[in-house]
Amino acid sequence: MDHLPSRATTPAAAPRPAAGPTAPVGLDALAYGGDYNPEQWPEEVWPEDVRLMREAGVTMVSVGIFSWSLLETERGRYEFGWLDRLLDLLHEAGIRVDLGTPTVVPPAWFYREHPEALPVSREGVRYEFGGRGAICHSSPAYRAAAAGITEQLALRYADHPALALWHVHNEYGVPVSACYCEESAAHFRRWLAARHTTVKELNAAWGTPFWGQHYNRWEDIRPPRLTPTACNPAQQLDWARFTSDAMLENFRSERDILHRLAPGVPVTTNFMTALSQCESVDYWAWGREVDLVSNDHYLVAEAERNHVNLAMSADLTRSVAGGKPWLLLEHSTGAVNWQPRNLAKRPGELARNSLAHVARGSEGAMFFQWRASRYGTEKFHSAMLPHAGTDSRIWREVVALGSDLTSLAGIRDSRVVADAAVLWDWQSWWAQKLEWRPSVELDARERADAWYAAGYDRHLTLDFAHPEADLTGYPLVLVPALYLMTEAAGQNLRRYVEGGGTLVVSYFSGIVDEHDTVHAGPHPGALRDVLGLTIEEFAPLRAGQSVRLTGAAGDLTADGWAEWVVPQGAGTLWTYADGPTAGHPAVTRHALGTGSAWYVSSRLDAAGLDTVLARAAAEAGLPERELPRDVEVVERAGELGRYLFVINHTDEDAVVPLPGDGVELLTGSAVRGALDVPGNSTRVVHL
Ligand code: GAL
Repeated sequence: MDHLPSRATTPAAAPRPAAGPTAPVGLDALAYGGDYNPEQWPEEVWPEDVRLMREAGVTMVSVGIFSWSLLETERGRYEFGWLDRLLDLLHEAGIRVDLGTPTVVPPAWFYREHPEALPVSREGVRYEFGGRGAICHSSPAYRAAAAGITEQLALRYADHPALALWHVHNEYGVPVSACYCEESAAHFRRWLAARHTTVKELNAAWGTPFWGQHYNRWEDIRPPRLTPTACNPAQQLDWARFTSDAMLENFRSERDILHRLAPGVPVTTNFMTALSQCESVDYWAWGREVDLVSNDHYLVAEAERNHVNLAMSADLTRSVAGGKPWLLLEHSTGAVNWQPRNLAKRPGELARNSLAHVARGSEGAMFFQWRASRYGTEKFHSAMLPHAGTDSRIWREVVALGSDLTSLAGIRDSRVVADAAVLWDWQSWWAQKLEWRPSVELDARERADAWYAAGYDRHLTLDFAHPEADLTGYPLVLVPALYLMTEAAGQNLRRYVEGGGTLVVSYFSGIVDEHDTVHAGPHPGALRDVLGLTIEEFAPLRAGQSVRLTGAAGDLTADGWAEWVVPQGAGTLWTYADGPTAGHPAVTRHALGTGSAWYVSSRLDAAGLDTVLARAAAEAGLPERELPRDVEVVERAGELGRYLFVINHTDEDAVVPLPGDGVELLTGSAVRGALDVPGNSTRVVHL
């Protein structure tokens, strides 16, 4: 078999303007630790916390994320004493601090003064205080109060020797992202005026002749509140963009205060790039705004092979970081408490999960949370220090992981070596999810997951890229779901293929422009000339109906969707054998310039996807890697050499061929030519 990854590191999409340091200050190790909420405990417990943190090898903790009501107890009355003592204690122990701005939970006194800052749902219901994240991101009162507490924190702690990183807010976008109140409506109109300039242009962009929705004045325009039937899709799409931007304005406001008052300390906010966890943030735009990209990831405990979703989230995170190092700021040591059945992690899973994030570019592994809470909604959530205390499996695994991460300190600042790119765009996803599409089976996330899994199963390391990003350097580019594509994106893909790239596009891509308006002419407007075909008509399938595709490389099975594909230069690789489009092309290939563009017009099952992907990958010159499906291999490369992470998610021991000799860093043993990886464990070879 071919050896493991060997291509050059390929930079991913988003270049980030340099805005100061991009790594936690003063941290000369991988980050290891978690959210630390000492305010939930008597102060006598803190020294024990710190002692145990040292025992576990903790290097950094996140502090103060939810502490606004304890730091500003009434407007302008500050009580920083406890936080002073805590930061001093952590500093004495050599533990770095990721300091939160607590702006995700304004105190009760704030809502007493400003009940209007509570967000309003699409149905017009105002949320209440008592949970967290009840924020109208357009509220001037909220913005002023958030800026106020951020400024106080920066003034007080800018020079504190424990401070390594600022952690702004918490997971923008969840639990509430959009607010439909009047203040938000006015803010939306200002945002629309900046985007569309005149009401006339907005009418054109939103297609308002349809259903008599023409506007004469800005003040007549509202958020897409509850409407009797499907609401204007272009209006909803702009609202989704506005919602992401309104939160981003608040992030920027806090970040700029921190940069001004504490220059030299990087600023992050914890993303949730997993598509199952946050839908409302355009992380391509946000990735450019933070000094260090950080991410939270939680397994869907009951999902089989949930390590694939973990890998996908880590790859997305690295890609929004422009390929640079990022930081896993939260995951769990064991069960969470908010899923229907919160399965415990199996022995070894904690380390495999953590090291899988590190393999894919994270500069450490942090958890929610340090010590399990006794009260509140998260008292049944796992922690590094569980209710069971230190005589527990989780604690022993936590201590072992701390020591593993110490052995891996040399990998810092190395870069992940990717084989191929997947195009993804949150805005296209938002557009496709709206009502009244040709079939409920058209699900962008489902296809993105399926195509990513197909790549994972072939042991390809995948970057994600924005459709307008420079794709030079990727031998293979996959497009699982890009319903919305601008002309510029279409031209970008054309250049990519003409220049020698192999492009594989899934159905229902390139259909509409940025206003959710169908590209003129036959589908797929943005991609017709790249793919060398047109689509005469969509042919959605019945629920449960499947179709057979015949071709030289064997039969394939698909369901959900079919199309009348009319080749205009493309050749046919597979033909529909049955179903509404029997006898017509199903999978095509168009030779263009020195590259090729493949098109898959139906929802292939996993085996079918694998067959098509194998052929396209071979054409792109990517190697076959004959490894068990759930033995994950990822390479990071840096100045000190190549690091091969091998994560065995199976119960069986595996033997993995190596491209050379090296040292296994977790056991310290020399390895030659091949590596033994016991079931459920991880090995990292420094080649
Ligand atoms: C995260 C959140 C944490 C904690 C955790 C529980 O989304 O940032 O504060 O609630 O979930 O899994």
